[in-house]
Amino acid sequence: MTEAFDAVDVIRRKRDGGAVPEPELRWLVDAFTRGYVSDAQMSAFAMATLLNGMARDEIRVLTDAMIASGERMDFAGLGKPTVDKHSTGGVGDKITLPLAPLVASFGVAVPQLSGRGLGHTGGTLDKLESIPGWRANLTNEELRDQLRDVGAVVCAAGGDLAPADKRLYALRDVTGTVEAIPLIASSIMSKKIAEGTDALVLDVKFGSGAFMRDEALARELAETMVALGTDSGVRTTALLTDMNTPLGRTIGNANEVRESVEVLAGGGPSDVVELTVALAQEMLQAAGVHDADPAEALRTGRAMDSWRRMIEAQNGDPDGMLPQARESETVTAPRDGYVTRMDAFDFGIGAWRLGAGRARADDDVVHAAGIDLHAKPGDAVQAGEPLFTLSADDAARFDRALDALSDAWEIGDQPPVRQPIVRERITS
Ligand code: URA
Repeated sequence: MTEAFDAVDVIRRKRDGGAVPEPELRWLVDAFTRGYVSDAQMSAFAMATLLNGMARDEIRVLTDAMIASGERMDFAGLGKPTVDKHSTGGVGDKITLPLAPLVASFGVAVPQLSGRGLGHTGGTLDKLESIPGWRANLTNEELRDQLRDVGAVVCAAGGDLAPADKRLYALRDVTGTVEAIPLIASSIMSKKIAEGTDALVLDVKFGSGAFMRDEALARELAETMVALGTDSGVRTTALLTDMNTPLGRTIGNANEVRESVEVLAGGGPSDVVELTVALAQEMLQAAGVHDADPAEALRTGRAMDSWRRMIEAQNGDPDGMLPQARESETVTAPRDGYVTRMDAFDFGIGAWRLGAGRARADDDVVHAAGIDLHAKPGDAVQAGEPLFTLSADDAARFDRALDALSDAWEIGDQPPVRQPIVRERITS
C-alpha cells in the first residue's frame, strides 16, 4: 500500500509550531494504529504537541481519528436516555459508586465504563472488586441487558474502544508527554464518545490530589473537553471541583465501598453527599429529567435497591463480608485544636504504599488496605484523639506510609475557611 503522507513531515510541522491539516492528522493516527508509524515517531509527535499545543480544530480531528480506530457503541433503542460521568481522578473519589445507582433510580441508563487505579489515585473497578464475587468484565450484550433491566452498570472498558488511544497513552506514560491538554482531552473524550452515551458530565479536579494541580489549567482542560463532546453531539457539561483534601473519610478500596453504602443509606460524609448530589443533578438535567430531587433520594435510601441490583447483576453479593486488614495503626492528635489541612496527594501516596494502589498496570491491589480518617479539616480535636488509622496486611508497610504522611496534615488554633467542593460549572 502506498502511504498518503510521510510521518517525518507531520512531526516536523508540529515541531515547528504549525497546525497539522486534517487529512495528515487522520492518516497519522490510522497509520500508527496499523503499525506503519512507529512508536518512536508517535512519541516525537506527542512531544511536539506537548511543547507547541494544538488548535481546537486539530484536537477535534485527533479525537475523531482515535474514535475511528475502534468500535463505536450505540445504545439507541434502550428506551431510556443514557448519561455517563467521568472524573479526572482523585483521592478517596468513590463518587461513581453511589452516583450510578442514584441516577439510575430515576429511570436513566448509566453506562460507566471505568478503569483501574494507577499511582496515587484509586480506580473504581478496584474498589468494586472488594465485593465478593463481583466481576468487572461484561460482554457488550451483557452491558446492554443490564442497562435496560437495572439502569446502572460499572464495568471495564473493552479493548476495542479507541485502541489508538490505548497505544498512545502507553507511549505518553514513558515519554513524559502525559501532561499535554490536547492529548489528555482527546484521550478521555475519544473513549467517552466511542462509548455512545447521549450525555456526559465531567468532574474535572484541581488541587494537590488531582492529575491537574493548577485550577486555571484544569479549567482549560474542562473547556476543551466540553467543546469536544458538544461538537460530537454528546450533551456535555463539566464541574470544576476541589481535590486538595481527600474526599470523604476513607481512602482505599473495601473501606470506600463501605462508605458509599452509608451514603446510599442516607448517611455518609457531607462532602461525598455534596458532590454526589451536584453530579446527579447535572446528569439528570442532561438526561431531560427535571423534576428529580437526588438529595432527598439519598436521604430516604431510595437508590439502595438500584445498588443491590447493580451488584447482583455482576455476580456480586451486596451483603457479602468485605475484606478486613490484618494489621492497623492509628495516629493521634499531638495537641488540642482544629484540623486545618489534610493533603490529598500525601494521603493518596500513603494509601498506595499500604497496598491500596498499584505501581504498574499488572500489579494486584490489597482490597482491605487503606486509610480511615477520623477527623477532617474544620473538625475540633483534643490531644490523644485518633486522627486517622492505617490498615494493611503486612505491618512492614506502615513505616513508608507514615513517611508519606509526615507533613500531610496540620492542627491549628482556628478552623479553616470552608470552601465549597464545586467551584465552577462549565458549559459550551
Ligand atoms: N485519563 C485518560 O484516559 N487519558 C489521559 O490522557 C489522562 C487521563
